[in-house]
Amino acid sequence: MKYNFDEVIDRSGNRAAKYDERVKNFGTDDVIPLWIADMDFKTAQPIIDACVKKAQEGIWGYTSRPDTYFRAYADWQEKRNGWRPDVSLCSWSLGVVPALTAIVRLFTGEHDKVMIQPPVYPEFYDVNEMSGRRVAENNFIERDGTWEVDFEDFEAKAKDPLVKMFILCNPHNPLGKVWTEEELRRMLEICFANGVLVVSDEIHSDLIFHGKKHIPAAIALPGADKKVITCISATKTFNLAGLQASTTVFPNEEMKKIFDSYWSSMDIHRNNAFSSVAMEAAFNEGEEWLEQVLDYISGNFDFVADYCKNHIPAIRPTIPDATYLIWLDCRALGLDDAALKDFMIRKAKLGLNPGSGFTRSLTGFMRLNAACPRSVLEKAMKQLEQAVNELVREERI
Ligand SMILES: Cc1ncc(COP(=O)(O)O)c(C=O)c1O
Repeated sequence: MKYNFDEVIDRSGNRAAKYDERVKNFGTDDVIPLWIADMDFKTAQPIIDACVKKAQEGIWGYTSRPDTYFRAYADWQEKRNGWRPDVSLCSWSLGVVPALTAIVRLFTGEHDKVMIQPPVYPEFYDVNEMSGRRVAENNFIERDGTWEVDFEDFEAKAKDPLVKMFILCNPHNPLGKVWTEEELRRMLEICFANGVLVVSDEIHSDLIFHGKKHIPAAIALPGADKKVITCISATKTFNLAGLQASTTVFPNEEMKKIFDSYWSSMDIHRNNAFSSVAMEAAFNEGEEWLEQVLDYISGNFDFVADYCKNHIPAIRPTIPDATYLIWLDCRALGLDDAALKDFMIRKAKLGLNPGSGFTRSLTGFMRLNAACPRSVLEKAMKQLEQAVNELVREERI
């Protein structure tokens, strides 16, 4: 089946956070929403069909989770990434962020530190700081638009006896970095040598471009599967975040048991009726859609790269090899973070994620979600160009 990703679907008023929370986030609904990480595309037809069938049953009582559920995750991982997770060590949760929060609370102590690599998904700060943990920031080093790990600092942080956990964003949001085998090995070796528990968030691992290959942390090093916790889901891949479901793969039964009893103590242990069927349909029948959406998004990346180069050279995008999120270097505009946010909302009329949420050491960045019809992106880039031109003119005056 050929999917039409050019179709513009009006999502406003249908409880889509991306649209209906614009006033809350940007103070106005007069912005093109290119922020929160979901896509403006309909998901794969087999997933829609499975959910419609479930809806038509008209009975959505307590839902069991058949063995086929985790098997679908394992089959997918094996096929796409060459890793077969042990289904007996898989746990369900309401999402990757709730899983990360539980993992931090259960496997670190109250005053421990958790290493993260900014600029990084803002919830990596939140899951720690809201749990009373401190973050140890291993900031990326930027060299002319290329972002690299500061391994010297990484090792020094890992050696800090208070650092008990490392949350790896694999692949990395917002830099769109697909980790190489060498990078993964080095990070894991350092963590294992220093007793630092590695938690790998692989929610974006199906959204890979430019011929790159995702490597699950669990197979990056022999025996890593016995040490690493991995978070995976179908929700980013197939645009199902509202169904709230993810899977955590544990390295051993004890950890899985601790995690499961945490959720059971709140009676949170069942998929909702729709996520149960949607996740299986996604993994079993969604690949054709995925290949097409990746192709379309890749075209969007090319469009943004060319547009910035030819019309808005003051904005420098980091075109990602993974995720559909583009990290925009806006430092040449000479605006501080508050002014940049205001500029994007009031002048460019764009609802983007401010870079300040992803890092505490850099200013002047924004994140743009490119998973939308090309025509929306064209309009957005035109608005941005006009706003930048105006700013340049005003500054010259
Ligand atoms: C790296 C990363 N982890 C987790 C999430 C969200 O996961 P969930 O919706 O399953 O809680 C996101 C969403 O953007 C993300 O970028």
